[in-house]
Amino acid sequence: MDANQTMERQRDDHSTGGFGEDLTFHHLPVMCTEVVDVIHMVPAGLIVDATVGGGGHAAAILAARPDLHLLGIDRDEAALNATAAHLAPFGDRVALHRSTFGDFSEALTVVDGLQISGFLFDLGVSSAQLDQVHRGFSYRNAAPLDMRMDQRQQLSAYDVVNDYDEADLAQILWRYADERYARRIARFVVAARPVIDTSALAELVRQAIPAPARRRGGHPAKRTFQAIRIEVNGELDQLAGALDSAIDRLVPGGRCAVLSYHSGEDRIVKNRFDLAATGGCTCPPRLPCGCGAEPLAVLPRRSGWTPSGDETKNNPRAASARLRVVERIERRVGQG
Ligand SMILES: C[S@@+](CC[C@H](N)C(=O)[O-])C[C@H]1O[C@@H](n2cnc3c(N)ncnc32)[C@H](O)[C@@H]1O
Repeated sequence: MDANQTMERQRDDHSTGGFGEDLTFHHLPVMCTEVVDVIHMVPAGLIVDATVGGGGHAAAILAARPDLHLLGIDRDEAALNATAAHLAPFGDRVALHRSTFGDFSEALTVVDGLQISGFLFDLGVSSAQLDQVHRGFSYRNAAPLDMRMDQRQQLSAYDVVNDYDEADLAQILWRYADERYARRIARFVVAARPVIDTSALAELVRQAIPAPARRRGGHPAKRTFQAIRIEVNGELDQLAGALDSAIDRLVPGGRCAVLSYHSGEDRIVKNRFDLAATGGCTCPPRLPCGCGAEPLAVLPRRSGWTPSGDETKNNPRAASARLRVVERIERRVGQG
């Protein structure tokens, strides 16, 4: 792995200005002990942290296994700046790359030659992104309707809120956040256009949700902001393909671990992992397989892991987390 790559990355980012100059990154890695435990037994080689963020999980993995290298991917420039500083003590064991995880083949050219022993996907948004008020991820402060993880991207929350038609908006709120009042919220938003900032949007959502329902389930705008963020960043579009290709690239004994935070994400993870573990077998349950399906992986624990009570007390962001893991097995002779 190229030692200069990490340092070059730091130098480049420091010269970009804007977010690139902010090296503070406050994010408590979720279920860190469990993540390190499940990655701990993989063969020596490369771990691809596909959502490296501030590098909290990455640092814990590198510290626990001195024979592992790590490629950290993120599409957020500010996150990569912070993680370059945080992971600098691990020197040439670390390389960083700015891209989406939807296509990590380009990122992998940076670390050519190392076998891939593990993948980690810690989905969604980081606390640091929520805390950077001007980025518009949070309903708590007035800010432009932005929510782009990658600032080079065109589509922003402003476009979704002000340009999508009412039916599409309602569909997004329902599909990405199970929002019960999706249609009402969409109607209120469309009637109030232009909606100029995050405070205006949060207030419209509050008005759209009937008073008794507002008292349950946290801030009334939480689900709407989550859904719009997922739409802006196309968060679910790339996930299935990225997981399939991660499992495909692992060495036998290698593991792919995913932390998801809502049912839409977890459904995709469960489906892809089940498919890898059954090989797409269509035989009736409890009968021996006769359809020729070839499993690629096993599931160390079918239902995955959830955080301890202590962790959710100290880090409310962990409350909805689920960790799922799949372990790669040998292909049978004759398979591609
Ligand atoms: C929950 S945070 C990860 C935190 C990290 N595990 C840590 O310990 O600091 C998720 C990160 O993934 C990034 N991200 C989300 N979707 C992505 C995608 N499709 N491709 C690349 N990065 C993505 C976000 O920018 C964010 O920094």
